[in-house]
Amino acid sequence: MNVQQSIKMLPTEEAAKLRGSGPLPARPYYDPEWWELERKAIFLRSWLNVGHVCEIPEPGSFIRREIEFARASLLIVRGKDGEVRTFHNVCTHRGTQLVDEAAGKRAQFSCRYHMWTFGTDGRLLSAPDFERFYVAKEDCSLKQLRTEVLAGMIFINFDPEPEQSVRDFFGPIADEMELLPMAQAIDFTEWCYEIDANWKMLFDNFQENYHIKFIHPRTGAQTIGPENPLGYPTHYGFSGPHRSQTLWHNPDPPPPGPTLLLGYGRAAQLAARDAYSFPKTDFKLFPCLHVVALPPGQQFSQTMMPLGPDRTRSTVRMYWTRETDCASRAFAREFGAMSIRDVLSEDRRAIEAGQRGITSGALEHVQFQDHEMLLRHLYETVQEKVADYLAEQEPA
Ligand code: FES
Ligand SMILES: [Fe+2]
Repeated sequence: MNVQQSIKMLPTEEAAKLRGSGPLPARPYYDPEWWELERKAIFLRSWLNVGHVCEIPEPGSFIRREIEFARASLLIVRGKDGEVRTFHNVCTHRGTQLVDEAAGKRAQFSCRYHMWTFGTDGRLLSAPDFERFYVAKEDCSLKQLRTEVLAGMIFINFDPEPEQSVRDFFGPIADEMELLPMAQAIDFTEWCYEIDANWKMLFDNFQENYHIKFIHPRTGAQTIGPENPLGYPTHYGFSGPHRSQTLWHNPDPPPPGPTLLLGYGRAAQLAARDAYSFPKTDFKLFPCLHVVALPPGQQFSQTMMPLGPDRTRSTVRMYWTRETDCASRAFAREFGAMSIRDVLSEDRRAIEAGQRGITSGALEHVQFQDHEMLLRHLYETVQEKVADYLAEQEPA
């Protein structure tokens, strides 16, 4: 299966006709009151990527995740039965946080305060002098969140009864994700950074190529050419709240430089060739997950978790399907990850400057051209979700 079969990818002119063309209010990019609406309407009831199954390979393996916008500490655990579950990292006696470590492996979780002890399935196993309480043990399990796995990626939802499963939420893109290396990954290289920018401002940067020539004159040279001087994508697709774009193939790419050759070692020639023969379709998944579908070895995912109206944590990961069994492979991976870091650092300065400008309130509106139609789609989707939420709040 390829993307064209599952998502309708339209050439730019056709796709642009589906979208509006007018300016859009700038306020949603910085207003704390608007952010509070997004928090409730979107982030507290959407599927969010919080990790990968390879982080919890064995029964008892766990990771802890802090989700600041929800003021939540989460414990994601592989149970003795192999099931992946997510609990609030909160003892059901009087609320003490159970785990301080970021990750580890345990047969059970004991609270430091009065030693209530929970199983990997969240059930309360034992508690000293429990006869003196006025509650049943069955009613003292850790508080659980909805958790589903797709393509190896762990998704959670703060809504106890989400409208859709993860698979239904992603629609045809779910099948595409199952084909990506992350679905079989056993390891990953991670780079995490916080940025002074609204989450949409950050995501928008990765939804257009208009800036490549100016912000990435060195690193972006391979993705632009005389026939396409701004490196615009060739096709765009929309699937519910999600988007995708097919990048342009440069028919005559510059040869990889000596550093790239050294960095990628034996795989460099192959990587350079694949980079232009592989169908380069990116997924921009609602609300804040970006999967760059480059060839294996260059592909990365990025989760942009909002920390507030003008601050966001970005987690970039390259997933690997083989062990790091030799120095050259370890070097090539690190080189690949750091090359991405270089590019994203170039973006970072422009994004933060954009946030400072927009937060000043000097602009009432922002402008989008045809090749910024994915930004417009995200903007409109957010507006729709907030409008739905507000309509639900109105008394019947
Ligand atoms: S608060 Fe955890 S055992 Fe008392
Ligand atoms: Fe960029």
